[in-house]
Amino acid sequence: MLDSDRVRRELQTARYGRSLVHQEETGSTNDDARAALAAGADSGHVIVADAQTAGRGSRGRTWTSPAGTDLYVSIIDRVPVAIADLPPLTLAVGLAVAETADALLAGRAPDSQVKWPNDVLIAGKKCAGVLIETNVGQHGSEGVVIGIGLNVNRAAFAPELEASATSLYLAQAQPTALDRELALCTLLRNVEHQVERFVAQGPAEIARALTPRLAYVGTQVTCNGERGWLRGVSETGALLLDTAHGLHSVYVGPIVPVP
Ligand code: BTN
Repeated sequence: MLDSDRVRRELQTARYGRSLVHQEETGSTNDDARAALAAGADSGHVIVADAQTAGRGSRGRTWTSPAGTDLYVSIIDRVPVAIADLPPLTLAVGLAVAETADALLAGRAPDSQVKWPNDVLIAGKKCAGVLIETNVGQHGSEGVVIGIGLNVNRAAFAPELEASATSLYLAQAQPTALDRELALCTLLRNVEHQVERFVAQGPAEIARALTPRLAYVGTQVTCNGERGWLRGVSETGALLLDTAHGLHSVYVGPIVPVP
């Protein structure tokens, strides 16, 4: 079990996790956080679970969430951003998760990358995913739930995931278990920092910081039915694809590398 008292003691955030609920098992921390948001929970409130029985990924996929090894976290933030301007928030969170992976691994694995728009990769395999959901009310967004699944100490994956998934543990040349409490404290600090940067400075600043970490740059990919050379991320957070018909901005993922 995660030692959530230690997490509370060692947190280095201003808001994130200052109110924190730790569950041994739940359906989905994102569902719990959306309910808490609707019920008036504070901005920065965090729900973390040791296991999820109905963990959700993007595009309706399942996020496998076994007990005791990884992090399943949802953060409530009442960001003062209009719904139309929220999509690049995913990039800010992905950037923060990638920074967290690198800080925890301290050079013992290749640097992590962000696969636009919501995956974090190490050596081409996914170690984390981000699922941001918005509660919409009469006057627009009432706040967002930032859901993060980070594979920390998972030592094996189901056969269908083995080729595409990894964990911080497995990414090391000599696998060594990581400190999950430290991982959660580092994650919350980095996510808080990048979300505040996004709110204060906008997507262009996030795109600039993300660019050196962007996966598949200079290679051919398909994305939302378009095929082209991946050139980067625009100032609005769109994916820039160099297609047969010119440079196109793409707003909906996922990216599929062309073999
Ligand atoms: C993805 O890459 O598809 C996004 C995965 C997001 C998984 C996390 S785990 C914590 C939170 N609760 C959920 O049900 N999903 C997110």
